[in-house]
Amino acid sequence: MQLVDSKKITENIYAYIKEQIIASDKPIKLAIIDAGNDAASKKYIALKMQKGMELGIQVQLINFKEDVKIEEVLSKIDELNKDDSVNGILVQLPLFEHLAPYKHRILNSINPIKDTDGLSAINFGLYSQDILNGILPATVDACLEVVKEYYKNDFNGSNVLIVNNSDLIGKPLATVFATLNATVTIANEFTKNLEDLFSTADIIVTATGKGELFDFDSVQDGSLVVDVTSIKKDDKVVGDFKDRKDNNKDITYTPVPGGIGPITVACLYRNLVNLSKLQK
Ligand code: GUN
Repeated sequence: MQLVDSKKITENIYAYIKEQIIASDKPIKLAIIDAGNDAASKKYIALKMQKGMELGIQVQLINFKEDVKIEEVLSKIDELNKDDSVNGILVQLPLFEHLAPYKHRILNSINPIKDTDGLSAINFGLYSQDILNGILPATVDACLEVVKEYYKNDFNGSNVLIVNNSDLIGKPLATVFATLNATVTIANEFTKNLEDLFSTADIIVTATGKGELFDFDSVQDGSLVVDVTSIKKDDKVVGDFKDRKDNNKDITYTPVPGGIGPITVACLYRNLVNLSKLQK
């Protein structure tokens, strides 16, 4: 089992980001909207803010209370869209339960040129046409960074299995891989005979958010396994795959913690600096 070296990948991305920050003639600013009460989200937001500070990027956190109305969130986004000092707007998901039905309306209200997360319908349409056209969601971009480094860059005849069908990961990632000519299967935790699909996949991406569901027994030799799940279980941070210590198979794996997570934060800030350039 070979482990993906996230550090090497993130160092390259941060080197690019730092160059762009130096070249920029004004400060770069990200606005993060927190309108939810998910414990993991609070941790992700803190991580993003910490990294922003380290990079010298201004990060403005807008915290909404549990009784916030949809109109207030939309009005804040409108204000940030119009504010020239703000280069990127990110709405952390999941939202409060009463706002969840308005998720797409909220994401689509972000001006696409400030959509750091690339989750608006316009961005989805743009990178569906050509991955160079739009802003890729950071997790998707992070998966592609790993694939670029550890898999041949030719997806003709490659089987990609994605165990996630969300707007944040599964749908955009499947779209991108399909655009690159891979043969894509989108599964979820309810898919029957998932192990059979494991045995024919060249690239497996899992993001069930459940943790320790799978082992490597039916994963074929030579494959790349990207584990996006990162949750706490019994005080240990775990991904979707377990038992990796005594595994002698020829598999490349993104460790949890320290695999996809840090690359995702780097990709987010790369999106931000690229957007700020487009806004010139
Ligand atoms: N919640 C979990 N991951 C993400 C992410 O990448 N972006 C947003 N906006 N919310 C998330």
